[in-house]
Amino acid sequence: MTFLFQSDARRGAVFAEAFASALPDLAFTRDAAKVDPDAVRYLLTWTTPADLARYRNLELLFSIGAGVDQLDLAAIPASVKVVRMVEDGIQRMMQEYVLMAVLALHRNLPAYLASQRRGEWSPRPQRQASERRIGFLGLGNLASAAIDRLKPLSFPLSGWSRSPRTIDGVSCHHGEAGLNAMLATTDILVCLLPLTPQTRGILKADLFRRLPPGAGLVHVGRGPQLDQAALLACLDSGHLSGAVIDVTDPEPLPKDHAFWTHPQIILTPHIASVTQPETAARAVIDNINRHLAGKDPIGLVERSRFY
Ligand code: GLV
Repeated sequence: MTFLFQSDARRGAVFAEAFASALPDLAFTRDAAKVDPDAVRYLLTWTTPADLARYRNLELLFSIGAGVDQLDLAAIPASVKVVRMVEDGIQRMMQEYVLMAVLALHRNLPAYLASQRRGEWSPRPQRQASERRIGFLGLGNLASAAIDRLKPLSFPLSGWSRSPRTIDGVSCHHGEAGLNAMLATTDILVCLLPLTPQTRGILKADLFRRLPPGAGLVHVGRGPQLDQAALLACLDSGHLSGAVIDVTDPEPLPKDHAFWTHPQIILTPHIASVTQPETAARAVIDNINRHLAGKDPIGLVERSRFY
């Protein structure tokens, strides 16, 4: 039985060492050209390989990242279980980023950075955290982790998900009516949704209009979820006050794109959260052990919902 690793060499070295000690009977290789395709039971990759059909005995396909929208799910045989990366390192990085971004908007950082560039010393009124309502679009493992970090700061917290969820200390909403209710009471909206046909373009004018005037956006989902022109229009009209954007469409943005220089946008190059090889190797090994014990892996993708 073989585990075929198709990601970068640095992560590969960490995985190889972890696999050698935890799963010594499983062959680990990075070399698709030399592998016996029939021996490959497990594959870790970012995109769907063009020659996937060679691996006739494949059982689990692991995404190296938290998202699976880059995979062509239709090209993966139904017998293969597709697994999202759920690992502590990604969660920790997302916690840091969301905390940073929420605090940056809460404390008016985009406006102060713009004042600094103009050489202006201009203090603004400051709301208390208890008066700044944070709403999450998406309540998966990354959102839950970020919520845990925000809880001690006394922001009122709410969240919206496709199906009903219960999270202690969070006002949870679901469905279309739930989305309206949450948006109406959200001062900083954090998007942590997976990219699916339902969430493509979800951050659009109609949604922004349902937020209270002066609201901010933290976008750490996927680039195609955001209507960029609608965001720019809402920032320019003053309906939205600022945005922290980590994901765009395309990535990178063209050199002349308005996001690069917009005074109310803080833009980062899709670095909010990155798979950490030490913790990711542990998570994949645990999932192989679960699979060998007849259990579903953590992060199993439900293909009908695309995540
Ligand atoms: C990054 O965006 C990931 O999917 O891990």
